[in-house]
Amino acid sequence: MRVIVTKSYDEMSRVAADELAACVRDNPACVLGLATGTTPIGLYADLVSDFEAGRLSFAGVTSFNLDEYVGLEGTHPQSYRYFMNKNLFDHVDIDIAHTHVPSGLGDDDGKVSSEYELAIRQAGGVDLQLLGIGPNGHIGFNEPTDHFPVATHRVELTESTRVANSRLFDSLDEVPRYARTMGIGTIMRARKIVLVASGENKAQILRDAIEGPVTPMVPASILQFHPNVVVVADDKAGALLSR
Ligand code: F6R
Repeated sequence: MRVIVTKSYDEMSRVAADELAACVRDNPACVLGLATGTTPIGLYADLVSDFEAGRLSFAGVTSFNLDEYVGLEGTHPQSYRYFMNKNLFDHVDIDIAHTHVPSGLGDDDGKVSSEYELAIRQAGGVDLQLLGIGPNGHIGFNEPTDHFPVATHRVELTESTRVANSRLFDSLDEVPRYARTMGIGTIMRARKIVLVASGENKAQILRDAIEGPVTPMVPASILQFHPNVVVVADDKAGALLSR
């Protein structure tokens, strides 16, 4: 695992954006695994700037997002499809038909999940998976529990995640109770993983995840077993790391 602690959020964003840009330049038909949340907003803005400056094209790229709230349509402003369109897809030359976000709709969880897994496999697997980290150590929406869920599945969000994410909704009541997320196995099959972390409230959990024991109670700790991970933290999130 390579750990990079930057001096600022902007530098974290640039360093992480460069990892994604290098992946796309090396293989213009690469498959990117993408994340939502507050942390990657800066790096998506950097990728848009690279595109606008003619330094990067997403024309051949396929993408798969980590997760989506159950019950929200892609047109809902808090849906992750909406987020991706607003922060990246609407501003670059990616073919929108080649962008995938787990569906928030439909009752048949098994079917929706297995179709998502199949689509990832048929695309050749994820070359680079971008991750954030939740204050409780979740990656995607794989919440702390007694096992590592393998495949894409429906998950009940913990109260702490709903509270953390309620900042983006009008009230806690409006935050969906369930989400669909890639599993830990899905994430671990990516050929490379870039995890971004920003802010003081991520400092302790980032330390637990990369320097503590590997446990499903800290889902991100599984990344210690992945052979090709880059962690990019800003100064605040990296403050408690010993190396
Ligand atoms: C988002 C996702 C989540 C976030 C995590 C951190 O697609 O899968 O795991 O990465 O909740 O979110 P922020 O960046 O808002 O702190």
